[in-house]
Amino acid sequence: MVIDKKYLDPFILATERAAYGASLFKGKGDKIAADQSAVDEMRNQLNKINMKGTIVIGEGELDEAPMLYIGEEVGNKFGEELDIAVDPLEGTNFAAKNLPNALSVLAVTKKGNLLHAPDIYMEKIAIGAGFPDNLVDLDFDVQKNIERLANAKRISPKKITACVLKRPRHDQIVNSLNSLGVKINFITDGDVSGVISVADPKSNIDIYFGIGGGPEGVLAAAALSCLDCQMQTRLSFQNEDEKNRSRNMGIKDLNQKYNINDMVKGDVIFCATGVTDGDLVKGIKDQGDAFQAETYVLHKSSNTNKIIKNNIKK
Ligand code: FBP
Repeated sequence: MVIDKKYLDPFILATERAAYGASLFKGKGDKIAADQSAVDEMRNQLNKINMKGTIVIGEGELDEAPMLYIGEEVGNKFGEELDIAVDPLEGTNFAAKNLPNALSVLAVTKKGNLLHAPDIYMEKIAIGAGFPDNLVDLDFDVQKNIERLANAKRISPKKITACVLKRPRHDQIVNSLNSLGVKINFITDGDVSGVISVADPKSNIDIYFGIGGGPEGVLAAAALSCLDCQMQTRLSFQNEDEKNRSRNMGIKDLNQKYNINDMVKGDVIFCATGVTDGDLVKGIKDQGDAFQAETYVLHKSSNTNKIIKNNIKK
């Protein structure tokens, strides 16, 4: 069961519009306003699409009642039943400070094919394409993962580059990588593009390690599922409330390790539009009555993997 290609353009427009919304607040120091503007624009476009859509990864859970909450129905109630993961503004700090790599992101599958992940932390490990299955694993220590990857690539661990989100919680990972002589490419935010960088030969990133947002993990998995890469994740709970929320969302085994196929099944569309210029795509360019947006588009069943530039009327 594939998602009709006719859905590509309207979903691309959803991240384009959201990126434009966020761009209006670029460098203004207000990440909440930038996020809200992105959400409003994305929601408006999603509701025009001919589908019975459900937000399964969104801006929060129902009791917080934000727009694009988990469970919200979007679309015009006709057309295909689709599950949608959204992050209208990924890298709210980047947008507020006008720094590179702010994106608007979404992923779409047929109904029932996306993991319903709560908005809590998630351990993540990811590598590129062309390796034996299960080469890396969250239960291996850093040294074992690096050695297995280095062996598969027939290079020394010292030639490996890892991407890590700069947070104190990753000090142990960083110490282990340092002692192995692995190069580290730190990011300060934005682990969707951090994870996706393992798929990009130009990035020179061989492996992604660390704990980040669960929603961002599922979005990155959607992209990697179109690119034949490997990723494994596991929810990382900070308290009992997070465990209860996860159980209420239908997660039975709280310690489950998820491979890409456990998070994203079947056909998938992934779109990421730049808000600010970044490694993946360029940011929004104001053209007066219109804006120019650059979007990274993936669609598994049609083998779509391209960057497109559109000029859109404001
Ligand atoms: P926001 O866009 O919501 O600000 O998230 C940015 C981000 O860096 C994500 O890419 C990442 O998964 C998460 O925050 C990490 O969370 P924390 O900042 O709490 O370490």
